[in-house]
Amino acid sequence: MTSKIWGGRFSAGPSAIMEEINASVGFDQRLAKQDLRGSRAHCAMLVKAGLISKEDGEAIQGGLARIEKDVADGNFVFKLALEDVHMNIEARLTDLIGAQAGRLHMARSRNDQVATDFRLWVRAAVDNIEEQLLKIQSALIDKAEAHVDTVMPGFTHLQAAQVVTFGHHLLAYVEMFGRDRGRFSDARRRLNECPLGAGALAGTSFPIDRQQTAKKLDFDRPMANSMDAVSDRDFALEFLSASSVLATHLSRFAEELVIWSSAQFGFIHFTDAFSTGSSMMPQKRNPDAAELVRAKSGRVFGGLITLLTVMKALPLTYSKDMQEDKEAVFSTFDTLELCLAATLGMVIDMKAAPERMRAAASVGFTTATDLADWLTQTLNLPFRESHQITGQIVKLAESKRCELSELALEDMQTVEPRITKGVFDVLTVDASVASRTSFGGTAPYNVRSQITAARKRYLKEGPA
Ligand code: ARG
Repeated sequence: MTSKIWGGRFSAGPSAIMEEINASVGFDQRLAKQDLRGSRAHCAMLVKAGLISKEDGEAIQGGLARIEKDVADGNFVFKLALEDVHMNIEARLTDLIGAQAGRLHMARSRNDQVATDFRLWVRAAVDNIEEQLLKIQSALIDKAEAHVDTVMPGFTHLQAAQVVTFGHHLLAYVEMFGRDRGRFSDARRRLNECPLGAGALAGTSFPIDRQQTAKKLDFDRPMANSMDAVSDRDFALEFLSASSVLATHLSRFAEELVIWSSAQFGFIHFTDAFSTGSSMMPQKRNPDAAELVRAKSGRVFGGLITLLTVMKALPLTYSKDMQEDKEAVFSTFDTLELCLAATLGMVIDMKAAPERMRAAASVGFTTATDLADWLTQTLNLPFRESHQITGQIVKLAESKRCELSELALEDMQTVEPRITKGVFDVLTVDASVASRTSFGGTAPYNVRSQITAARKRYLKEGPA
């Protein structure tokens, strides 16, 4: 079979293997909607610029509308032999309206066409992810509000370090997801320029109006350089890199869910909706969804590395290598969409066990820093000295197998005679969290105002 679009230079059809390696329609059919939208804008511009007749323009728009409906209804048949989504749609348009369909490709190449389609697709993907992130932030803030004074151990090195509140811990992720949203919207701003009209690489001799097509497709402006317009895949790389950072955040949160829901911690509990059993061990409730969110970050990083590798050292302008840009992006989006939905589900589903958290917060000398601060403040000692004294008192408690608050005053006074009974006011977990009133600190009073601020900043709630 001879491809119509390549024209007469090719006497024999592509070998089967050539067809297989060359074809992208298996995956780029996901661009059909964007491709049709781009074609409609291009056609309208050609008519307005007087480059094609009104009648031809109408016939083309009618054919495209019909194809749009078939695509939306799932009735469009994509053919591998037609290589990609662009040629499938063009061929179908020709079937529908005849040779006038060929006028649509005036002043356009598949190079600027695919660049336009893909930007439109990534733009929508960014919007979708941002929306999902907002929902997760909202759910986390609600959960944080329910736990502003639920004390738990905060960890460094996964060793109990200081007392924090569960609400404060959850709000840390609200900040991370807020930065993720920022990265996606930065990427969106830069990607929102229109390649259409760049032609194959050099622009076109036809008097086209690139401002018009850019506007019609909701781009901020046409891309300034035609060679850059068909070569650039930064926008996809930025999408993948913002996705990779997001995937690390999701994996860190997922890992905490795994730890918290373990029998040893027992900080949270998932209902049956987010737990799975073991085929052999009847007691098991496994947090599979969290484990999978944790693991799926690998695919997302893979997408970024794939496209960086494809793009590295490619000379200007278009090379077929660039066809490999799409699957990395599609698969990353699909993975994230699922992981975000699962994360939202788990945030809503998880039930905290405040008594378990409190018990864990009360062991492991988590108020040792409070003791050192007390010594510094009350006895006016340099912090390093207080740290030293506290270390000795912790050692003492360890040898007596008790917590700091359980030590007798006399015992403490053997280490530092100036200690008074006032010290016991700072050694409880509640006193510890309540004292962390510095901006951004874990005191429940602070966490309450952080919640109000987060709602205003991220959910645009409350007075502006
Ligand atoms: N399917 C191609 C891609 O995704 C479309 C552009 C083809 N351009 C070309 N000069 N062969 O990259």
